[in-house]
Amino acid sequence: MLKRPRRNRKSAVIRDMVQETHLNAANLIFPIFIVEGSNIKTAVSSMPGIYRYSIDNLLREVESCMNLGLRAFDLFPNIEESLKDKHASESTKEGSLYLRTISEVKSRFPEACVVTDVAMDPYSSDGHDGIVENGEILNDETLEILAMMALAHAQAGADIIAPSDMMDGRIGYIRNKLDENGFTNISLMSYTAKYASAFYGPFRDALNSAPKHGDKKTYQMNPTNQREALIEAELDTQEGADFLMVKPALPYLDVVKLLKDNFDLPIAAYNVSGEYAMIKASARNGWLDEQRATMEVLMGIRRAGASVILTYHAKEVLAKKWL
Ligand code: PBG
Repeated sequence: MLKRPRRNRKSAVIRDMVQETHLNAANLIFPIFIVEGSNIKTAVSSMPGIYRYSIDNLLREVESCMNLGLRAFDLFPNIEESLKDKHASESTKEGSLYLRTISEVKSRFPEACVVTDVAMDPYSSDGHDGIVENGEILNDETLEILAMMALAHAQAGADIIAPSDMMDGRIGYIRNKLDENGFTNISLMSYTAKYASAFYGPFRDALNSAPKHGDKKTYQMNPTNQREALIEAELDTQEGADFLMVKPALPYLDVVKLLKDNFDLPIAAYNVSGEYAMIKASARNGWLDEQRATMEVLMGIRRAGASVILTYHAKEVLAKKWL
């Protein structure tokens, strides 16, 4: 045999020398849940190690992440049921929990990168990402609400706005609204290929944001489809997106690779709540080596082509020096 691939695996030094994929803190975005009140840190039962923080505790959490080199955060609000309505009006109210959080984080940590989520569901009494009328999700009527949310986030100091709603045309609509108001430098990370997935379950527990009726299949993509992601990516690119996101990550690595090969924008992948819960649950049962499984997952997502990974594992992998 002239060719023996095992020679390049024979020692740690050589294995490291030929390692094709790397991951560091700069590639990670840490999603964090926030809740009204003070001195609150409540566990999300289906996501061991993940909490909902009141703003004061969130600032401490952000500080400890920053000390680990983790500098990008995606914030998600848990909104009291009594503040929800059909038009998500709480989302743009001055002084509302989310807008206060954005500006507090940015004023305490100007060097942090704050990613904000644009969608109606945490604020919607229907638990949907758009306006519901007679059981139907209205597309065009929802766009103005999303754009006003995005504008409020920009005014509060967001660095990157991430529309997760999957309404048609929202990237262009939001881009216009931001530009008209002078926010030409605010980035858009589009949830380009967001699938109607069972893996969002723990997130909906965390925010109490599950749909009150029906499902999200008329706006989120069918998990069986790959080519449809190209249509979404083409539109987002034309409409001015700065990042294309695939979500969830693990069952859709083919889609990450497809977008990476066909588009020049950086690709983000969201390693969602249910993917996190699977690893945590099996590790707790002693069924998987948590460190190795976690790193294999994150490296797999990078190998498929993601520049950026949104993951609930972000802080832990840095705190435990798994990278
Ligand atoms: C809602 C939104 C969801 C997630 C991020 N933004 C859930 C959904 O679409 O129902 C899921 C994130 C996760 O599961 O970690 N717009």
